[in-house]
Amino acid sequence: MKLFDSHCHLDDEKFNEDRAETIARMREGGVARCVCVGSDLPSSGRCIALAEQHDFIYAAAGVHPHEAKDAPADYIDRLRDMLRHPRVVALGEIGLDYYYDFSPRDVQKRVLQEQLDLAVETGMPVIFHIRDAHGDMFDLLRARGKELPAGVIHCCSASAEMVREYLKMGFYISFAGPITFKNAATPIEASKAVPLDRLLIETDSPYLAPVPLRGRRNEPAFVRHVLEKQAEVHGVNAEELAEITFKNACELYRIPV
Ligand code: NI
Repeated sequence: MKLFDSHCHLDDEKFNEDRAETIARMREGGVARCVCVGSDLPSSGRCIALAEQHDFIYAAAGVHPHEAKDAPADYIDRLRDMLRHPRVVALGEIGLDYYYDFSPRDVQKRVLQEQLDLAVETGMPVIFHIRDAHGDMFDLLRARGKELPAGVIHCCSASAEMVREYLKMGFYISFAGPITFKNAATPIEASKAVPLDRLLIETDSPYLAPVPLRGRRNEPAFVRHVLEKQAEVHGVNAEELAEITFKNACELYRIPV
């Protein structure tokens, strides 16, 4: 079985002590590929460095809504340069987070819009982080119509109804550890609304370790538990779903299968 962790943060300092071992466990666990996703310019740079060292790790570069308030004046130019790097497969993660509100909402929206302009300019696939902000996100995406490139709603926390809207806009939907949690009724219903050819799996590690490892530091090898839960939710066998989600991730990120 060959798995694709479509979203992780292997550059995170929580892996500083044992990154090589974590990457070895990922490989031993059948996770043949992953995308290491940036949250600001320095972390995007670290993701690119990891992707240069390992041909099975790809990178995404972007400014997360939490970090929007600290984006330097020239961040778009620097992101544009990063997106030209051959190991960078997406712009992300970008979006809106009204749950934590670590950046003022007007700043989050400005930085999101500027990065969406860059996505349109470059045609790069987009990784969206959206928390408690689906209303504003729908308004903003609808205003752009069909000009946007492909994208994924990562670590999806939306309802089934909202997921159907994102699907209509052509996006992939990705679920992480929370789908395995006890109180997972909403993500399970939401996942059922996603046709298999639009579904991705991810860890978002080091955050959100899936059951039965909840509470521990998460790592790419644990994406297997997300896969198994999704197989159960969709009533398909895990092997088959591994293959489908692998292919979906390759299509989104435009990597040969
Ligand atoms: Ni993330």
